[in-house]
Amino acid sequence: MNGAVNRPKLRLQGVTKAFVAPRTGHRTLALADVSLDIDQGEFVCIVGPSGCGKSTILNIVAGLDAPTAGIVEKDGAPIAGPGPDRGVMFQDYALYPWQTVQGNIGFGLNYGAPGKSMSQAERDARVAEFVKLVSLTGSESKYPHQLSGGMRQRVALARLLANGPDILLLDEPLGALDAQTRIILQAELLRIWGETAPREQRKTTVFITHDIEEAVFLADRVVVMSSHPGRVRDILTIDLPRPRDESIRADPRFGHFADEIWRLIRDQALQAIA
Ligand SMILES: Nc1ncnc2c1ncn2[C@@H]1O[C@H](COP(=O)(O)OP(=O)(O)OP(=O)(O)O)[C@@H](O)[C@H]1O
Ligand SMILES: [Mg+2]
Repeated sequence: MNGAVNRPKLRLQGVTKAFVAPRTGHRTLALADVSLDIDQGEFVCIVGPSGCGKSTILNIVAGLDAPTAGIVEKDGAPIAGPGPDRGVMFQDYALYPWQTVQGNIGFGLNYGAPGKSMSQAERDARVAEFVKLVSLTGSESKYPHQLSGGMRQRVALARLLANGPDILLLDEPLGALDAQTRIILQAELLRIWGETAPREQRKTTVFITHDIEEAVFLADRVVVMSSHPGRVRDILTIDLPRPRDESIRADPRFGHFADEIWRLIRDQALQAIA
């Protein structure tokens, strides 16, 4: 068999990350021996108690931080820094308030590497394509303050996708939204991710959330972490059929997965509040 075909898209092997406070020398072991392979086109959710190292994993894969020990690879090559091949989105991912929807979505194309080889007409066409993809047609000329929270997150997602990453790294991207908008955007996200497309065309996605049902609804696999130090506690394969819609939440298997994840993180979550 061809090794490249079987190679995971992302590989973390024995990843450890220690933070040392500069003044006190206090050492926090944020990640201890984390190993995880993620395949092309997979949608992986990471859940776990606050402080278990979820964002640290994402930052390391994004190349914004380096592990203290261990291997982090994309397509078999070490990740040495950030790049346009990995799109990162945070919960409070800020839009440029002085730019319109169009301006925000096209920002990376106009000012960053991905748009360099494109003519202005090509960039405009690409922006229009992504405005449509996130269902914001008609709102192109609005400014962020004129948009709802859900619309803003759609703009942020479109801006990310317009740069053509093959990996999406999403750190609680829906966390600031109200419950109804959040449920709508979860389904939207699966559509945009390419739920009906073949695996090789889907974006490999790492999605962090505190919301267990969100994780079950979205994921192919859910990574459950434990804290102090941050470790992978268990990995569940969510073999619910795709495409998924609201009705999947009523499926008894959906409830079983959610219960199982809650059972795994319950004790630590309760300790964290105590
Ligand atoms: N830059 C840093 N300097 C020092 N300690 C850090 C730094 N970043 C994270 N930590 C510590 O590492 C641990 C893991 O943090 P991380 O932000 O990855 O957790 P998390 O799982 O994303 O938490 P949350 O669910 O609250 O977002 C925590 O104990 C945190 O205090
Ligand atoms: Mg975090």
